Amino acid sequence: MVGTGYVGTVVAACFATLDTTVIGVEAEPSKISALRSGQAPFWEPDLDELLGTALRSGRLSFTADVGEALAVSDVVFLCVGTPAAANGCPDLEALDTAARLIGRHTDGHHVVVTKSTVPIGSSQWLTSLFEEAGTELAVVSNPEFLREGSAVSDFLQPDRIVLGSDNAAALETVVELYRPIVEQKEERLRPPVIRTDLVTAETVKYAANAFLATKVSFINEIANICDLVGADVTDVAGCLGLDRRIGPGFLEAGLGWGGSCFGKDLSALVATAADCGYEASLLQATIGVNKKQRMLIVEKLQRHLKVLRGRRIAVFGLAFKAGTDDVRDSPAVDVACRLQELGALVTVCDPRASAGSAPGRVRFERDPHRAATASDAVVIATEWPEFATLDLEELASNMRGDLLVDGRNLFDPHLARAAGLRYDCVGRSGVALAAPVHL
Ligand code: UGA
Repeated sequence: MVGTGYVGTVVAACFATLDTTVIGVEAEPSKISALRSGQAPFWEPDLDELLGTALRSGRLSFTADVGEALAVSDVVFLCVGTPAAANGCPDLEALDTAARLIGRHTDGHHVVVTKSTVPIGSSQWLTSLFEEAGTELAVVSNPEFLREGSAVSDFLQPDRIVLGSDNAAALETVVELYRPIVEQKEERLRPPVIRTDLVTAETVKYAANAFLATKVSFINEIANICDLVGADVTDVAGCLGLDRRIGPGFLEAGLGWGGSCFGKDLSALVATAADCGYEASLLQATIGVNKKQRMLIVEKLQRHLKVLRGRRIAVFGLAFKAGTDDVRDSPAVDVACRLQELGALVTVCDPRASAGSAPGRVRFERDPHRAATASDAVVIATEWPEFATLDLEELASNMRGDLLVDGRNLFDPHLARAAGLRYDCVGRSGVALAAPVHL
């Protein structure tokens, strides 16, 4: 398993608990010693326990030496990072380095599996790299669909396993690794295995993320229209989701999507299309709607408070979504930065993200009530359940103002108003203004 980021660590630990012997390859010594002691370099539910079990079983180990790992293995998973470069396209330097090392150390029998999300055509490029190194290695594309916050269960109970290759035998070697998942006891959890060609497997990954991001941008656009016409987007989304052709997932309106994947993958897909002479205008619109959506909260604050300079604003949330400490491309970070640019005094709080990940001179508090103390407004930027269960009366009593702008529609508008708060949210202005139905 070359690379021990989110994907590599989860996949390594999971395979090891499924009776496969796994060697994780990681260049950074501090990361290796943490992993050897059973600590993932990031917070992910259930992962540390799984790492501990795998290490104790003796089927998981870590090394910095690719050659040493290759000498005792048959399949090499490429799980190195492909972060967005300055031009927005994935930076393939780590992949290039890993591939060259593999080319140098292999005896020619290895099957190389791309798990990193790589631009369409990269597996073909890898095949050529290996040829240049004087070896012919079979390449299999096996895209991952793991979500941060539920990566372990996503791996062990996937909706599908997608494998692409021109080499049927290599493909079956990888299927074999997944056998414990494919043939697991509970029949309803057994995923289909889709065998296809390299370029199709690579495209599935991009299409899946592009569709999910488009679904979120779609419901956000509907939410904005709901705000104008006085409809309730949560009811609209609920009714849409009951249509089996649409499905209920990814219809939660709010500040928009973030994280290290959607933005990067959409840009890469748009760029690939452009390289082929096609303008992917729907995908560009998905990105555009999302960019505007992040600033919706700032506009709402301006509508209520007018000039924001000197206002004290508490931003609840820093992670790009609940269930992770990851702040990469987080809408919450963008909101905090913009508020600060406008002269507001910003305090952020998050149950998991580190204080060090707060941007600029933004103050960080772990406790939401402390963050809200003497604030003019509280903004909900991340959908943490910890925020949804806050005592709103206590919150209101600590603030100097009374405005709650709920960028994730966490609260019941009537309860928020009953707690003495001026409440605004996304796509539910009709509900927020209407007389409470149940009182
Ligand atoms: C996403 C995909 O869901 C995974 O299948 C994929 O493997 C992964 O990217 C990847 O490419 O590595 P992830 O980035 O962990 O997973 O997060 P998601 O759960 O997809 O959420 C993405 C963003 O959409 C978050 O900011 C979340 O708050 C937002 N979102 C999601 C909404 O605003 N509304 C929703 O209804 C759902």
